[in-house]
Amino acid sequence: MNPEFHASTQLILQHLRLAEATYVSGEQLSRALGMSRTAIWKHIRLLRAAGIEIDSQPRRGYRISFEPDYLEPELFKDSAIPAWHLVQQTDSTQTIAHRLAADQALHGTVVLAEQQTAGRGRMQRPWHSPYARGIWLSMILRPQISIQWSPQLTLLTAVAVCEALRAQTGLEIGIKWPNDLLLGECKLAGILLETVSEANQIRYVVAGIGINVNQVSADFPPELRTTATSLRMFDCHPRRRTPLILATAERLLALLEEYENTGFSPILARWNRYNRTLLRRVRVLGARQQVIEGTALEVDEYGALLIRLDDGQLVKNYSGDLQLIPVSAHDLSR
Ligand code: BTN
Repeated sequence: MNPEFHASTQLILQHLRLAEATYVSGEQLSRALGMSRTAIWKHIRLLRAAGIEIDSQPRRGYRISFEPDYLEPELFKDSAIPAWHLVQQTDSTQTIAHRLAADQALHGTVVLAEQQTAGRGRMQRPWHSPYARGIWLSMILRPQISIQWSPQLTLLTAVAVCEALRAQTGLEIGIKWPNDLLLGECKLAGILLETVSEANQIRYVVAGIGINVNQVSADFPPELRTTATSLRMFDCHPRRRTPLILATAERLLALLEEYENTGFSPILARWNRYNRTLLRRVRVLGARQQVIEGTALEVDEYGALLIRLDDGQLVKNYSGDLQLIPVSAHDLSR
């Protein structure tokens, strides 16, 4: 959604848009708008904070180098998705989706935000969601299955996002158990499934999907800079988010329909094809903070990961946070 700017900021944006790829000097802007150079600079800062990238060159001035595709309702009107809810800013799209779901929102309803101020990740972690840089999306799902099968949805959602992003970008995106998406060894996207059930039956699921699209390294908090990535950090190109959003949401809806018709096996086979976990050395931090380390062997039809510990014992993990342990030269020589 187009950010709401103060009238003077909007005027500067119009001047820069009209000039397209050519520079507009601070002096030109200051004369045309009757503002001091310092005031111009402050408005430029506001535009940048809204995700608009502006080059500034001494003696040449300012030029827009990239403007994000803000989430406008008309961009989504011809899709297979039954309802879209777009907001500028919210604490978490999950919260809005739960409210809508409790209010009978349809299966497939999508909530999107330009920015989340308290984005939620797995294992109670925060999810950093800066303005107009990524995709912060929650989808309401109403699968007709019993609660014991809900881990299958975790893997299914990862397959849907992976296939949508692969098709749109041509990049070799992989999945780390259960549902992190990797580009190289870094995390590109995360998925959080929140399930509400009643007497063993799923009432609804809110599938939260966060995809890093146009961030540069400085957009991530320092502690994430070595482990997180974005599509742009991978190939240096900022991208339009709309096609990625449409592809992801439509793929997820289609895959759920496939799952209800043909079961989980074909989806698990696809998860296995994209997986970056099996036969790797891994460390899993469980929900009760217990840590186990060993070799990841396979994922079963419940979505559980089978790990062989160093003493040969086999352990099944139904949830947790998994770290891939790099293979050292020492290990390779053994
Ligand atoms: C993870 O920890 O890997 C899961 C991250 C999920 C983030 C998405 S962004 C949209 C939705 N809203 C949230 O607050 N979280 C999910």
